[in-house]
Amino acid sequence: MTVDEAEVLPGIDAAFVGTTGPTGRPLPVFPDPAPLAGHGPARVISLCNQKGGVGKTTTTINLGAALAECGRKVLLLDFDPQGALSVGLGVNSNDLDVTIYNLLIERGHDIREIIRPTRVPGLDIVPANIDLSAAEVQLVGEVAREQVLARVLRPVMDDYDLILIDCQPSLGLLTVNALTASHGVLIPLETEYFAMRGVALLVETIEKIIDRLNPGLRIDGIVATMYDGRTLHSREVVESVVAHFGDQVLHTVIARTVKFPDATLAAEPITTYAATHPGAAAYRQLARELIARGSAP
Ligand SMILES: Nc1ncnc2c1ncn2[C@@H]1O[C@H](COP(=O)(O)OP(=O)(O)O)[C@@H](O)[C@H]1O
Ligand SMILES: [Mg+2]
Repeated sequence: MTVDEAEVLPGIDAAFVGTTGPTGRPLPVFPDPAPLAGHGPARVISLCNQKGGVGKTTTTINLGAALAECGRKVLLLDFDPQGALSVGLGVNSNDLDVTIYNLLIERGHDIREIIRPTRVPGLDIVPANIDLSAAEVQLVGEVAREQVLARVLRPVMDDYDLILIDCQPSLGLLTVNALTASHGVLIPLETEYFAMRGVALLVETIEKIIDRLNPGLRIDGIVATMYDGRTLHSREVVESVVAHFGDQVLHTVIARTVKFPDATLAAEPITTYAATHPGAAAYRQLARELIARGSAP
């Protein structure tokens, strides 16, 4: 048994019901969501943090899979030229001729051409590859350059309950496009000192987008990732994040465990790769929390 499995990890409902949760607040119970009567229109959520390595891609994949398990129809959009979301779900995007890049830059495509199913029922993906890195520069000269992605997504808005956008680690034009196309932003925050540096800039950017481009956008929450409940360090960081951001910090925290990189190597979400692992339970709880908060249908 690894150290990770030696104890119940934080963020697991059963372990904390009626007690203080890992964020230092009483942990509510998030009920099993009711099935939906029909599908769509989609609520679009961007996973955004201009810092790399904080768990954006991991959260997009696993939250998406957990929402699909709840019967939601979910589309994941890889919006990072690194293509980690695509690779993490077994799509070899380097071999693809048409990706999200072509949809942004060329006329005459339909997003339905490039949507692929994953092995998880109800979970589809729009892949990206390194081509997307050119889009940032090429979009600059476009009319309504911030609204290009919103236009690309329009044909499938009624086909999905949720569209999750895995943003690249920058606040450039691609991320501005993602935020302009979104109803909500979810901010993964690595449980490390200095994690909050940069969040002020991100929040400022989000406020500008609300002001100038997308008045309907809201911050759905901040989710602490790579949490280690055995260290004072992790607990202190989460405490200070809650002191600063209050109710915007979600109750669910995602623990640090090697099962996440393992699942990525296996090109599967943790919910199927290690279905009973606490890490899978944490993302299921995150899905239920977002549904309970009204951030997901
Ligand atoms: N909760 C976690 N515990 C351990 N490793 C994690 C966790 N979440 C993500 N990782 C790993 O950390 C690295 C960065 O995560 P990733 O989701 O790719 O971040 P981002 O998309 O923000 O750059 C990846 O190797 C991933 O497998
Ligand atoms: Mg990423």
